[in-house]
Amino acid sequence: MSAQTVSKRITVPQLRARKGGVPIVSLTAYTTPIARLLDPHVDILMVGDSLGMVVYGLGSTLGVTLEMMINHGQAVVRGSQRALVVIDLPFGSYQESPEVAFRAAARVLAETGAQAVKLEGGAEMAATIAFLTQRGVPVMGHVGLTPQSINTLGGFRTQGRDDATARRVLADAGAVADAGAFSVVVEGTVEALATEITASIAIPTIGIGASPNCDGQVLVSDDVLGVFADFTPKFVKRYVELGPLISEAAATYSAEVRARTFPGPEHCFGMSQRSVVS
Ligand code: KIV
Repeated sequence: MSAQTVSKRITVPQLRARKGGVPIVSLTAYTTPIARLLDPHVDILMVGDSLGMVVYGLGSTLGVTLEMMINHGQAVVRGSQRALVVIDLPFGSYQESPEVAFRAAARVLAETGAQAVKLEGGAEMAATIAFLTQRGVPVMGHVGLTPQSINTLGGFRTQGRDDATARRVLADAGAVADAGAFSVVVEGTVEALATEITASIAIPTIGIGASPNCDGQVLVSDDVLGVFADFTPKFVKRYVELGPLISEAAATYSAEVRARTFPGPEHCFGMSQRSVVS
């Protein structure tokens, strides 16, 4: 039996069946050590294209490439054994046509071993989602505030504050669900809209800056851990402040190296006993 067959990972059908049940827990992960730490606690590890900003220091997610997503996807799959791993298709790798999207998604699944891809967009992406899901690619949708469309949205703005936008986002979520997505991220919407979406579609909604009534929640792990301190959006809760701890550790190390108190005798290797040959 292959390692794939005995995998204990949460599957796409199991996740899909969690609609209306125990809330689904998700965090982003980009590296093996962080995936290892998060894996026992979450249902989904999302390798989000937020890594462009969080890991690479880019100003938006637009510069993220398929190669970056595949490299980090491989790292996260290696570091996890239980969570469902979902990998973002980056900007430019899927919008052109369903065929182009299929080739990108097939590379991601084949080269990483992840279970699903995520792509942004609503009604305009429905044909692509249907094309992928009918060909064996599980798709998670992403509606509301879609960071890859930052230039058309005019910034990171909460969606659904007016009736027309709320109706559009609601229709987008319905289109994504009808097209065959197994779940959908609802990002940056007014709470009532996220609640209405959750009540109106048959697949689990995963909220971020949305509503506690969503079927699950996702946050960027570096935000939760207090590492990414450039900007903290209102919807983020920082559960620990690792940033100052890392800075303090680096300062202590630096002082000890300069004072020659590190490395100490316990960090140094002695010579092994030589046998004397006469
Ligand atoms: O890019 C990302 O990390 C995401 C999740 C936070 C939903 O899209």
